[in-house]
Order: sequence, then structure tokens, then C-alpha cells
Amino acid sequence: MASPRATARLRPSPLSDEQGVVERHKQAAAQAAAELVQNGMRVGLGTGSTVAHLLGAIAARRLRGLRCVATSPATERAARELGLKVEELDEVGELDIAIDGADQIDPAGWLIKGGGAAQTREKIVAAAAKRFVVIASAEKAVQELVPPVPLEILHFGARCTLDALSPARLREVPDSPDGNLIADYLGEIGDPAQLAARLSATPGVVEHGLFAPELVSEMLIAGKNGIERRLGGKRDQPAD
Ligand code: 5RP
Repeated sequence: MASPRATARLRPSPLSDEQGVVERHKQAAAQAAAELVQNGMRVGLGTGSTVAHLLGAIAARRLRGLRCVATSPATERAARELGLKVEELDEVGELDIAIDGADQIDPAGWLIKGGGAAQTREKIVAAAAKRFVVIASAEKAVQELVPPVPLEILHFGARCTLDALSPARLREVPDSPDGNLIADYLGEIGDPAQLAARLSATPGVVEHGLFAPELVSEMLIAGKNGIERRLGGKRDQPAD
């Protein structure tokens, strides 16, 4: 029989109380968003640990005729394993709803995304959706955005691109699914609109992780007092 010490080593390390609370909040936000999905909808699926809860919650509803688009290979795999039908964005076209997590949410509704290096596909999917819903645990809501801001950059001239955005550094992760490098801008953020314009205008930057409020329909932020619903600036809101 295994000694108590050996048994302890085999057991997965339990979540700390704080991590457990955050996971429950992610789950609550994901569950609330899953309830917005209806039979026959074309659904954009984000990437990350909050979205992992969402996939399970959508699958558990056993809706008919869903057509999903995934923002990363990891999401695509997980969604398919749960029995969700995943297609290419260009096969599906406009999406009824897209749901995704965020790394930071500021009071004006600016987001930083791309902790999971999927910001380029995530932004394309958010823009293709009539309704883009952000789901997050309460610690993602901040008074002010702080670096890093994730970047996807071309291999060609990557050093020059990073020098133009100094301080910035490459992230030690595999290339993006579209064959590009992932990096982080580490400088001051200041006005997010100005920084977003600067990042977009820098040659070699494919996409950055600043998401403007106009991309977002609503944010479901789960904390100890339940779910706070904040409206974003995307105007194509359904009536409900
Ligand atoms: C991936 C993302 C994620 O949505 C963001 O990093 C939040 O992740 P998590 O839900 O794991 O906290 O932008 O590129």
C-alpha cells in the first residue's frame, strides 16, 4: 500500500481558497453568458480558462443547430470534444453572438486581451458578431489598464518592430496559429485610444490586445455580490 506521503504526492494540488473563489466567479459569468445562446445561433467562442467554463455550459444546454467558430485551436478541440459543431468563420459569416474572456476591463469599457495569445482571431470574431459579450471574474475589472499589452507581430523585421515600440519583448510561446510571433508591449498605456492607434500604425504589428469599447456589447463580471452587467459601446444590441 502506498505510504501517506506517496499518496499526497499523487493527489493534484488543490486550488487555494482565493483561486477557488475566482474559478467560481468565472463559472458564474460563463453560465450567465451561456444562457444568452439560443437554438440555431452562430456563436463565436473565445479562448482561455473562463471560456473553458463557457464551453461546458453551452454544451450542457443541448441546443439544436448551433454553428460555432473558435478563436484558437485549443478552443476548437475542447468545443468539438464536448459535441459542439465548429466551422470556419468564413463558412459561417456574421455571428449572432460571440463570448470571450478578458485580462483587464477598465471603467470606460476598454479591454486588454491576449493573455492566451489569441487576440488577433479574438478581435476578428468579436467584430464579426452582432453581439459581443465579455465574461470575467471581478478581479479583471481595474481602475486603470496596466501593461503588458499583447501583440502579434510578423517574423520579418521583428527586432525593428519591437525597437519601435520599446519597451517591448517577445513572449516565449509558440508562433500564433497564423504563423506570427507573440510579444508584449511593456510601456505606459496612458490614453488607450492613442496607444491603440499607435500600435495599429506600427509596421509589422498584425494586431494588438487593446479592444475598444465600441467592439463590446456587454460585460458580465462575476464577484462576491453576484453578476454585474456593464454595457459596452457596440450599438447592435438585441432588444432583450
Ligand atoms: C486569450 C484571452 C483571454 O480571454 C484572456 O487572457 C482571459 O483569460 P482567462 O479567462 O483564462 O483569465 O484574451 O487570448
